[in-house]
Amino acid sequence: MVLNITCIPGDGIGPEIVAQAKKVLEKVAAKYGHEMKFTDILMGGASIDACGEPLTEEAIATAKAADAVLMGSIGGNTSTSPWYKLPPEKRPEAGLLRIRKALNLFANLRPAYLYEELAAACPLKEEISKAGFDMLIMRELTGGLYFGERKTIEENGELKAIDTLTYSESEIRRIAIKGFEIARKRRKKVTSVDKANVLDSSRLWRKVVNEVAADYPDVTVEHMLVDNCAMQLVKDPAQFDVILTENMFGDILSDEASMVTGSIGMLSSASLNDTKFGLYEPSHGSAPDIAGQNIANPIATVLSAAMMLRYSFDLDKEADAVESAVRQVLKDGYRTVDIYSEGMKKISCSEMGDLLCERI
Ligand code: IPM
Ligand code: MG
Repeated sequence: MVLNITCIPGDGIGPEIVAQAKKVLEKVAAKYGHEMKFTDILMGGASIDACGEPLTEEAIATAKAADAVLMGSIGGNTSTSPWYKLPPEKRPEAGLLRIRKALNLFANLRPAYLYEELAAACPLKEEISKAGFDMLIMRELTGGLYFGERKTIEENGELKAIDTLTYSESEIRRIAIKGFEIARKRRKKVTSVDKANVLDSSRLWRKVVNEVAADYPDVTVEHMLVDNCAMQLVKDPAQFDVILTENMFGDILSDEASMVTGSIGMLSSASLNDTKFGLYEPSHGSAPDIAGQNIANPIATVLSAAMMLRYSFDLDKEADAVESAVRQVLKDGYRTVDIYSEGMKKISCSEMGDLLCERI
């Protein structure tokens, strides 16, 4: 099969980690008889430097024409980079928001689980972490506060900033369906997270989620307030299977969940629309402080490529091969610096790519 993939190397460590994921995909192609067709586009800071804006129409068109998009990371140091002197809609992150909207990527899947081999990195007490955990945050990605009307006005001699939070029934329904569908393939539990004790948008969220739940009698549904969820994630993360939530809550909770694993360099993500098309990227950022040193951990990007094989191309066997290569490399004691512990073999970003290829 021919896989048409648009790549966004991006900023910071992005180009280094995407290079490793491409290498791994080429190895998969060679082994299983596929053909990878990669086309790179610019986004974020790299696009600002080259084209004066964080994402061009041409780049969007290239991404749309592909079967899937593989992304590294975008953005720089927000206090020192000149990109952050630009108006908000010209900054690197605006490119990311724009591509999400342009490609209608409303469903953001962020798995967070504890790797047995890396359990020591988990910041929770052992009595909590010993139960292990494996959750998936299903974050709504194209609505809510991120895309509501916003403005800053002057009123009574002072500035006043307004951000609006809206959700329609159809926006809630389509992400809820994705959440229940994926729960069916996992441990069949959905925790829907909202702030229904305060917000109208959350009360509608809860109503629609309950309506969708009625079509999935085999899946358990529970509702949790977002502040409680933040607490439960550190108190008892093993209780969660699928966490279904709106855009802003999902942004915050997914960072918390990834921190709780202790190994954010290992976590992948997928952003999907209602076709097979998706954008796949690591859950971590562009780490400008270590960019260009060949020490970044490429595993999150490699695992994102595995998600791409699974969700956009239905290549489950190939995705399994990539995921088991990751487990094997960890079992063999190889570690990039972010997950290094005593007695292990410290390796570079590109060495990790090579060792993964050897195990496919
Ligand atoms: C993320 C990021 C983005 C978001 C930023 C960079 C706009 O934090 O993907 O979680 O808030 O969605
Ligand atoms: Mg975030």
